[in-house]
Amino acid sequence: MSFIKIGHRGAAGYEPENTLRSFKKAIKLGVDMIELDVYVCASGELVAIHDDEVDRTTDGRGLVVKKTLKELRKLNAGQGQKIPTLVQILNLVKQKAQLNIELKGLGTAAPAAALIEKFVVKKNWLYDDFLVSSFNHRELVLFAKILPQVRLGVLISRLRKRPGVTYYQKKFRPWSINLPAKSVSKKLVAKIHNLGSRVLVWTVDKPKQIKKIKAMGVDGIFSNFPDRL
Ligand code: G3P
Ligand code: MG
Repeated sequence: MSFIKIGHRGAAGYEPENTLRSFKKAIKLGVDMIELDVYVCASGELVAIHDDEVDRTTDGRGLVVKKTLKELRKLNAGQGQKIPTLVQILNLVKQKAQLNIELKGLGTAAPAAALIEKFVVKKNWLYDDFLVSSFNHRELVLFAKILPQVRLGVLISRLRKRPGVTYYQKKFRPWSINLPAKSVSKKLVAKIHNLGSRVLVWTVDKPKQIKKIKAMGVDGIFSNFPDRL
């Protein structure tokens, strides 16, 4: 399998993160996969935004889960962009890249699974066009129960000795283990490969560090500047 170039929050180094502009830019830069973060808003739609509050990335204030889609769509998410729904993103990407949906909010597993199923059945997407990941391992378990056909990525924010990667690999049998750059080493990559999963590393922007991490034999890197990969 060849190395996977992943656009982080689209191409967030160039365009406002998690917006349609950012996803378009990532496609233009030739990424293999686009990463985005999702929450369920108050009216039930899945929307792409990183934080649980709208404060940092828009001109509004407050929690994403307390706002309806209509309220969210009034906000400026940067350069006049609006917070997009996952449906809009799927219709934009149209299989030009794979999608890594990161389940950020609680209750995202079931609606994400339903949406993926719908796009597979009605719009000819493949299950393998998706990778679903989360730091919230309960949400990941729920997702896997509903739609086991889709690849899972276990996100680990800080790898400790216990529980180590063996625990996560055996528990989830994930397609990938997604590690922060600070936790990855050549030895660890070999160990995860032996266990049967791939290693994806986030978030790496500096060319020197990209080179170093690639040399460890990782399977993919998330970058805000995916053209540097
Ligand atoms: O999925 C990789 C990366 O996006 C995880 O961290 O905080 O940028 O969502 P974060
Ligand atoms: Mg993310």
